Amino acid sequence: MTASDERPVLVFDSGIGGLTVLREARVLMPERRFVYIGDDAAFPYGDWEEEPLRARIVGLFGSLLASHQPEAVIIACNTAFTLAGAALRAAYPQARFIGTVPAIKPAAERTRSGLVSVLATPGTVKRAYTQELISSFASQCNVHLVGSPGLARLAEAYIRGEPVDEAAVAAEVMPCFRSEGGAKTDIVVLACTHYPFLANLFRKLAPWPVDWLDPAEAIARQARRLVPLNEGVAHPDAPDVACFTSGRTDFSTLRLMQGFGLKMVPMMA
Ligand code: DGL
Repeated sequence: MTASDERPVLVFDSGIGGLTVLREARVLMPERRFVYIGDDAAFPYGDWEEEPLRARIVGLFGSLLASHQPEAVIIACNTAFTLAGAALRAAYPQARFIGTVPAIKPAAERTRSGLVSVLATPGTVKRAYTQELISSFASQCNVHLVGSPGLARLAEAYIRGEPVDEAAVAAEVMPCFRSEGGAKTDIVVLACTHYPFLANLFRKLAPWPVDWLDPAEAIARQARRLVPLNEGVAHPDAPDVACFTSGRTDFSTLRLMQGFGLKMVPMMA
């Protein structure tokens, strides 16, 4: 059994979106070792039927928890956590899971116009979990769910430095902007961890300024509260690592991981 202060924090996503959460988590937990897991063999999660995706995610964690013995797991993916969060906690009660859910509650607290849009994958938009967040925390608001079929892929391309068609991004984002009875959307919830990579482009394409709500920092703060602080302990000399379920080793991904200070390693059996 690994000592608690040596156990890593696992950050999990379907692809590279969870890096937007990892970068915040590292700022708050500099002494911790991180293992980034991208289930890119199944990307994008947003297109999957619920049952097989839930089974896949719960199944994957059997070996992930056994091989990494993490102190905590950050599910840095709305599409995964809104579907499989409860099943993961039930299947692995000894593990500590920190989830990512659409930031509907903070959006409802902050909006002045009462018009909030939630930009997410088609999967997250369909979830009962998302509906429950709206009825529990935002019943006084007009919440508009925008399921985007292509943005996660576009974000993957953009962050790897591949050309991205701005018109295609605009087409996915425009449905977020609504005006009703003189009021206009003033908050767009970025309810997919891939999207903050495109935030500058979103700002440029927006027909009027809105608050783009990125929950990464709040997720990192929640993780910090749950992961014991190792006072006076420095981060180990070895770099943090990233593993992808596809086993990919392409140059653009290697370079991106290097940029995030992550060494790409094969998945452990
Ligand atoms: N990054 C994921 C999320 O937060 C989803 C991307 C995908 O469709 O796989 O929802």
